Amino acid sequence: MISEKLNFAMDVAKGAGEILKKHFGKSKEIMFKGEIDLVTNVDLESEKFIIGKIKDRYPDDEILAEESGDLEGRGGLWIIDPLDGTTNYAHDYPKFAVSIGYSEEGELKFGVIYDPLLNELFYAERERGAFLNGESIKVSFIGNLAVSLVATGFTYDVRTTGRNIPEFNKFQITVQGVRRDGSAALDLAYIASGRFDGFWEYGLKPWDVAAGIVLVEEAGGKVTDMGGAQYKVGDYDILASNGKIHSDMVELIREVRRNNNG
Ligand code: IPD
Ligand code: CA
Ligand code: CA
Repeated sequence: MISEKLNFAMDVAKGAGEILKKHFGKSKEIMFKGEIDLVTNVDLESEKFIIGKIKDRYPDDEILAEESGDLEGRGGLWIIDPLDGTTNYAHDYPKFAVSIGYSEEGELKFGVIYDPLLNELFYAERERGAFLNGESIKVSFIGNLAVSLVATGFTYDVRTTGRNIPEFNKFQITVQGVRRDGSAALDLAYIASGRFDGFWEYGLKPWDVAAGIVLVEEAGGKVTDMGGAQYKVGDYDILASNGKIHSDMVELIREVRRNNNG
């Protein structure tokens, strides 16, 4: 049995997903938060919908949402990305999702990630497992980097910092394939469902990863920082995997950083 709050979060994620789907491929208003960091009117509409639903049902709860910041409250904390994959969305590239995480007293309790185009609803609750459209999911069994499919992403300051380029290059010649698909939430959901074996990225925000962390951990995977230490929401770097290739990924990154004085 899943909790009432998770059930509610699943309905809200589906409702927000409908908004994203309705506007997908149509003309939209694109605004720049940074040189390559975008937001559209659809991000804002989706976020307004999610916040409105939470405020109606759980008025005492606190909300941390990408476009609205921190809306204070005395109850649990909802961590929301109303559209993860905005660059994809702005280019009509069909890879994006709604991500809703929930924590109490600093501990993540559940997470929901919804891809409205594929109608894939990923969700997980602490100690209760991870699911995709009602079916239990588990991380992959692959234990060798050479046959792994891994994913990553780049910070919006990559043009000036070049951050993660050396790591990307090294992974590319070590593993079976590297994907940069533009939605960290889906990258994590795909580790939980065994489609990806590993994922690493610098500079992600709580709303990019909160839901995905619960999914990966409940599906039997591991989430740490790049050095292999326990990941805390708000950390600058994240490394998630099926657990079996985790130490090899930590080692590869350590070696790249040693060679680049990073
Ligand atoms: C972005 C995506 C992308 C990641 C970026 C994130 P947004 O979120 O998750 O995969 O590489 O770092 O900021 O801006 O599309 O919500
Ligand atoms: Ca995001
Ligand atoms: Ca977003």
